[in-house]
Amino acid sequence: MIDKLEDYILAHIDPEDKVLHELDRATHIRMLKPRMVSGHLQGNLLTMLAKLTGSKNALELGTYTGYSAICIAKGLKEGGVLHTIELKEELEDFASEFIEKAGMRDRIVQHIGPSLDIMEEFHESFDLIFLDADKREYDKYYEKLWECNLVHSGTLILADNTLWSGKIVEDLDPKDRYTQTLLRFNKMVLDDPRVEKVILPLRDGLTLIRVK
Ligand SMILES: C[S@@+](CC[C@H](N)C(=O)[O-])C[C@H]1O[C@@H](n2cnc3c(N)ncnc32)[C@H](O)[C@@H]1O
Repeated sequence: MIDKLEDYILAHIDPEDKVLHELDRATHIRMLKPRMVSGHLQGNLLTMLAKLTGSKNALELGTYTGYSAICIAKGLKEGGVLHTIELKEELEDFASEFIEKAGMRDRIVQHIGPSLDIMEEFHESFDLIFLDADKREYDKYYEKLWECNLVHSGTLILADNTLWSGKIVEDLDPKDRYTQTLLRFNKMVLDDPRVEKVILPLRDGLTLIRVK
């Protein structure tokens, strides 16, 4: 039933663009853990949210093969730029090839290194921020956004995988640092009076956080 509904949804939203389709296929054929790729539905939502918020500059933590980066960049205003950070150097050329093919070279700046270090290098705040790197660091990413003044009133922060395959409502394994951090992050956002928040049960859970 869920598969059928998913097929129905995908058949009734804007079609996946050709380059993104190719990128998704190439990710599944050539990469480890292809499940991490945002894909058609979430990708369309990212483009839509970038447009709805009128975002011009954006930040992404966790480039992987570049799918979500291309989707966000597509939705930015004319002259807009997305900075995307990836820890693994070996992913840079793969993502770069598809960024080029998608015609997004002038809209996407790739950074290689740990997000927590690279976030300190920016001297601007962002309209849209997508957190999708190491789930064990989500709480630190969130703190760093404020510490480094990377947000402003109206910034939309999106955090992926916040329901973590439902593990956030199961008995907690004391060795599971992923679920522990996501629980801490979700609570931190809930208790933060500076933001409005809503969780969408899309894929693995997507939290939308708007800075007041
Ligand atoms: C879930 S994938 C990102 C998927 C991509 N945003 C998309 O939707 O297609 C997470 C990526 O974060 C990267 N990563 C892990 N730790 C990181 C860190 N500390 N800083 C930056 N990237 C990191 C991983 O190597 C992986 O490529």
